[in-house]
Amino acid sequence: MSALAGVALEHPVMNAAGTCKSVEDVDAFARSAVAAIVVGSITRQPRAGNAGNVYWPGRSYSINALGLPNRGLDYYGAHLSRMVDRAHEAGKPLIVSVAGFDVGEYAEIAEVVAGTGVDLIELNLACPNVWDGGAQKRIACFDPDQTAAVCTAVGDALLARAAGDPGRRVPYGVKLSPFSDPAALAELAAVLAELAGRPVGPRFVTAVNTFPNAFVVDADNRPVVDVELAGMSGPALKPVGLGQVRQLRQLLLDSVDVVGVGGVGEGRDVAEYLRAGAVAVQAATAFWNRGEDPSVFGSILAGWIDQVDPAAP
Ligand SMILES: Cc1cc2nc3c(=O)[nH]c(=O)nc-3n(C[C@H](O)[C@H](O)[C@H](O)COP(=O)(O)O)c2cc1C
Repeated sequence: MSALAGVALEHPVMNAAGTCKSVEDVDAFARSAVAAIVVGSITRQPRAGNAGNVYWPGRSYSINALGLPNRGLDYYGAHLSRMVDRAHEAGKPLIVSVAGFDVGEYAEIAEVVAGTGVDLIELNLACPNVWDGGAQKRIACFDPDQTAAVCTAVGDALLARAAGDPGRRVPYGVKLSPFSDPAALAELAAVLAELAGRPVGPRFVTAVNTFPNAFVVDADNRPVVDVELAGMSGPALKPVGLGQVRQLRQLLLDSVDVVGVGGVGEGRDVAEYLRAGAVAVQAATAFWNRGEDPSVFGSILAGWIDQVDPAAP
């Protein structure tokens, strides 16, 4: 048994944001081995995402520039309660990933989502693949002030929604990009630690989202995704993800859990992230590279159980 921000998990393996977007997807994940179902990222407006080739499945790394395709807050406001029921019937908590374009949007979405019975909210402060009028959207977590502003607004919204009953407060966490500057990571961690001391501060940190703005060409020198610059994930991201988890575990208060993401594809990866200080792990590329088949989580889990107890049947 594991636990994330006070929510019990049967084991530490779950899907990462970007893999489950609809009621039908939740049904498929409810039948899978994941310990919790992560839905989203969701935005206020429905988004088609970027056009053309947006995913390239490599063996040692994958590249994606999906650009947050999702059905928008009206859809999720209307359907999340059903998704929660389906997840809970399967004995799995439901986590929703929220991606806003400004502070107010994060707070508005979090407030609606919190009213649907979800167990946890993950604020995606790290999406690199959103372009607006030709300009790339700033990655929020690289700006400590912006991170503090989003967390404060979300915390206030969740506090108001709980109407004085701490039992109704939905815990939230933040998902980060990989930081290459250790001092910048320490600065952000100090902000998160200060926020975590408040009644509704972040209770977990998910590390990491894709490495921003990778560039890959095929044998004919053509970019493999149409928007050219795209987020990198998969096995090559694992040492980076492990390093971020290791640093964050040392930098954050014990009351803030760390979730490890990046290159989880087999049992050994789960064991490494847990040893580095994570309480749970998530995977996206392994799912996409198995044809969007949630059975991959059963394989990862079986491999981890084999690592922990090679004598298990
Ligand atoms: C196709 C694809 C779509 C993704 N969409 C999202 C998303 O909507 N929100 C988010 O927080 N992360 C998203 N991610 C990032 C993953 O959740 C994860 O952090 C990253 O891919 C590293 O894990 P991996 O090596 O297991 O893929 C996406 C990743 C991929 C490959």
